[in-house]
Parts: sequence; C-alpha cells; structure tokens
Amino acid sequence: MCGIIGYCGDKAARPILLDGLKRLEYRGYDSAGLAVADQGKLAVVRAVGKVSDLEKKGIARPLPGHFGIAHTRWATHGRPSEENAHPHCDCRMEIAIVHNGIIENYLDLKEELLAKGHAFRSETDSEVIAHLIEESYDGDLEKAMLRAVQRLEGTFGIAAIHAGSDRQVVIVRRGSPIIIGIGNNEFFAASDAGALLPYTQKVISLNDDEMAVLHPAGYHIKNLNNEFLQKEIEIRETRDDLADKKGYEHFMLKEIFEQPEAIENAFRGRLIENEGVSKLGGLEPVLERLKNVKKLVIVSCGTSYYAGLCGRYIFESLSELHVEVDVASEFRYRKLKMDANTAVLALSQSGETADTIAAIREAKRKGALILGVVNVVGSAIAQITDAGVYNHAGPEYGVASTKIYTSQLVVLTLMALLIGRYQGLSFTEGSALIQAIKKLPRQVKKILTDIEHIKKIAQEYAQYKDFLFIGRQLNYPTAMEGALKLKEISYIHAEGYPAGEMKHGPISLIDENFPTVAVVSQDSTFDKMLSNIQEIKARNGRVLAVASEGSSRIADACDDVIWVPETLPLLQPVLNIVPLQLFAYFIARSKGCDIDKPRNLAKAVTVE
Ligand code: AGP
Repeated sequence: MCGIIGYCGDKAARPILLDGLKRLEYRGYDSAGLAVADQGKLAVVRAVGKVSDLEKKGIARPLPGHFGIAHTRWATHGRPSEENAHPHCDCRMEIAIVHNGIIENYLDLKEELLAKGHAFRSETDSEVIAHLIEESYDGDLEKAMLRAVQRLEGTFGIAAIHAGSDRQVVIVRRGSPIIIGIGNNEFFAASDAGALLPYTQKVISLNDDEMAVLHPAGYHIKNLNNEFLQKEIEIRETRDDLADKKGYEHFMLKEIFEQPEAIENAFRGRLIENEGVSKLGGLEPVLERLKNVKKLVIVSCGTSYYAGLCGRYIFESLSELHVEVDVASEFRYRKLKMDANTAVLALSQSGETADTIAAIREAKRKGALILGVVNVVGSAIAQITDAGVYNHAGPEYGVASTKIYTSQLVVLTLMALLIGRYQGLSFTEGSALIQAIKKLPRQVKKILTDIEHIKKIAQEYAQYKDFLFIGRQLNYPTAMEGALKLKEISYIHAEGYPAGEMKHGPISLIDENFPTVAVVSQDSTFDKMLSNIQEIKARNGRVLAVASEGSSRIADACDDVIWVPETLPLLQPVLNIVPLQLFAYFIARSKGCDIDKPRNLAKAVTVE
C-alpha cells in the first residue's frame, strides 16, 4: 500500500529517493516524504498529495546527503496530512523511520513512551517505532532497532537511519515486504523491486523476522535472534514500463489494449493440443495430490474475487470438484472443514494482499493444499503457497485491474482443464476448449477496434449518477466487475447484481435516471435475461446491453448495444468485460478523474 525506498552510497540521495517514490506512487498516494542525513543532521521534507508536490517542496529546500529514506503513504491511522506523512522522527530529530504495515499495540506503546517523556508529533501508529528506537539507542542503530522490534505487534516493513551514523540504513521485515538492492558501492532498500529498476537488477528479499544493515562498503543480514544469515542474490527482470505509457493517455488504457498479449502469455506453452489438456509446470510438484482433491475453495479480493466467482462456474463445469468462493477477508469467520483433499486457491494480482495472505495462513493451519495464481513473480503469496501458476501478464500500474482479470480467467480455465481431464472431461471437450482459448486474443482485438462506438456510448451515459449492472451465471460476476470498474475510477455509484435478484429489491430504484447495463450471452440464460430487460424497460429504465454479436431480439429490446464476438459460454466473460472496462474508462475520462490513481485506493492493499 505504502511504498518505501532507502539509499546509501556516494551519490546524492535525494534524486534517487524521489525517483523511487515516483515508481512506488501507484501503490498509495495521499502524502509522501523523505529524510536525508548530512554532516550529522537530519533534513526531513513531507507533503500532502502526490510525489510531485513533495518534489516542489524539496526544490524550495535543497537536501544534500548521501543516505536517506523515503515513503509514499496510504493513510490508515490518521488523516493524510503533513504531520502524519512519513518519515517520523524521534524527539531529538536524529532518527528517522519509514514504515509499511500496522502496529497493532501502538496505543499501549505510545502511552508508555509518553509517560517516559517522549513528545509525539503525529496521529500515526508508525511514530512509536522512532521513539522506541530512541529509547534503546546507545550509539548503535542496528542494536536499537533489534530491541525496538521485539516490542512491536502487527506487521511491518521498516527502514531507519540515524543522522550520526556514517551512511547506514537499517531495514527489518515482518509481514510487509522489503528488499535490498545491490549496486556498485551503493545499496538500496525498497518495498518493491520496481522502485529500483534504473539502478540495479540484483536484489535480496528479506523474509519475515529478518533485518539487514546497509552501508556503501557492504551489508549484512540477521534474524531477530541476532544470528547472521546468508541469502541468495536474485536477478530481477528489467522492464521499465513505468517510464513509458507507450503513447496512451493512461496506464489503464494501455493495459486494456495489452489484453490480447496478456491472454496469449497466460496460455502460451501451456496447451497440449494432441491430448486436449493443459500443462502447468507450477502445479507439477503437487499433481498427485491435486488429482485427488475433492473440494476447492477460492479466496481473493475485489477484482480477483470476481475472477474467483467466474472460476466457480468454470471448475464446476469442467471438473468434479465441489467449489466454494470466499472474499478473503471473510474466510477466517467461516467454520469450513478442510483436510488433505481440500485445496485453497488464492488469486492475487499483486501477490501482497493482506486479506488474502491471512486467508492462506488460516487454510494452512487447517491442513489444506494451498495454490496460488499470482502475477508478481516472487511476491509474498507466491512464496507461501505450496504450488501455483504465474499470470505472466506483465506489470499492471493502473490501480483499476484490467489485463490481470482477463488473464486470471484464462489461467483458471487452464487449471480446471488440467484437473477436469483427470476427472472425466473428454478429449473432445478439452480440445474444443483449447481451440476457443486460442481464438481469444484475436477476439479481444476485434472488440478493441470498436473503441469509438464504446467511447460515444460512454459519453452519453456519463451524465447519470447511478447504475445497475446485471447478468446471469458467468455474466453475473462480469456485471459485478463492470460495476466495480465504474465506481473505482469515475466515483459513480454502480451496483452489480445477479439479474434474477433484481425483482427482489433493486428494481424499485429503476426510473429514467437509473440506467442498467445488462450483460447477455447466447446461452441458456438468454431468454431470462431478455425478460429482465423488458421488466426494466417497462419502468422507463434505459438499458445498455453488452451482448454476443447479432441478436436482433437484444437490439430491439435495448436502447443501446455494444456487440462482442461469441465464444464458448465458459470463456465469454473474458470478452464481455472488455467493453465494460472501456465504458468505465471513457466515463471517468469525460469527468476528468485521475484514472490511474483513483482517490482513496492503492494498487497493493497490504493492510487488513
Ligand atoms: C481492482 O480494480 C481493484 N483495485 C482491487 O479490487 C483489487 O483487485 C483487489 O485489491 C485485489 O488485489 P490483488 O489481486 O492484488 O490481490
């Protein structure tokens, strides 16, 4: 959610920290700040708003120094304000810390520290860390950090500096990712390797309860028992996508247009056509166990949850599995029986979502096989699952997820095909599915050529303040996801509903000011969807349909139609969501919204 970057070396720290913050800004962006140390003094600049606001402030006050830390914040404790922005300092303004995560016992610690005479300047939970370090500091920041974190409950990724130390940055992790970047006589700390792209590919990821001390001359890593650790250096891919929107006005639009490629990447090399089955290398280590799985529980949040809802229909149709889908944050409140024949499948674009991680931990405790579908290679969820599949969709910077969603749908279909072929699905059925999957990129491209028509319709609908999105079966999660896209980026109220539920309540909202977006496919739900549309029309509601090409009955019944190519019903959600992404995009654009960084949201939601 929040982003951290730290630097120590021979170069000026400030430009490196600012550049890193810009790369991290998509994760959280209500305020930002940096601290640089020079000649035994700490200089701290913080600003409400974007990193560009911090940059303007920083220019007014140049900060020399060759080591420092910086942070971009997404508020949890305390409103977005300059005082609440990180870094936070001790009473003497010698120690500065930045923190991702939540300190759950901060009120107790704060009370204790206040009683000892510490003066607090913010409403945050994070500030206690600076004062705890101060309490333990006797000239050695590493030792003081070690003592301080023993007192913390909750989750943290922390970077700290002391003005009096010679270019030393100390980092520690429990629950919130933090990595070391290795340069030439310089070291970096970051919550996300993307922040380090221009500087180094060499990184070391810390695990929970590990800390590291960085200095231009070298680094060492310890666990919280103060024992030295040796860790492998990983080489991360360098693709500086953030620097380049490739001519698109927004990352979201670029990522919508990247879907044909992202879908192809999801199935490339994973289809065995002459056997009518898929091959997923990441699942091979658990294949024997997977063949005997009886129950599958999908856990995820937001857009990934809607992919999971589609997944339920896909797995139920292709395999014998009993499938349940849970919003990850609700999973721990269920009394679900699990055993070695249960698999829990976590879906996550970022691989960092705290709610999903908590659900995985709960499922592990109950002995289930834990699987993941994750886009970010090496992310926390990828590390804690027993086996999984990467999307390989490339980085997604728009906060509203688009290409990862369609990629998730394809990967889920491949997983269901793999398991289904062990559980009775025929070669013919498997082959038909494979042929349909292979056509998807071309079909998405076709939808994308219709962009002017979708834009025109979006402009006509941009005046409305409320929307209902409806669909049945696989189009029900599509309706939910279409509504989510619209509310996320345009701030328009939109409700996604199973169409059959409309008559049980929401229909009372319908009038000429409350339009409906109906997602309709040429499948067994068609006639019932048509009836629901008639019910809306009878109440003067305007209806926009997203429908499979060529149905004159839909064209006659609705006010407006966006046509999509037809595929197998199981794959239709991959196509049907694309116009809805564009619909939301063009409405948000016509309202002048900050599409890539919608208010109050963050790309990786690392708090519960
Ligand atoms: C998607 O548009 C949202 N920004 C959000 O719902 C997101 O899908 C959710 O937070 C889950 O994230 P994850 O896939 O990274 O776990």
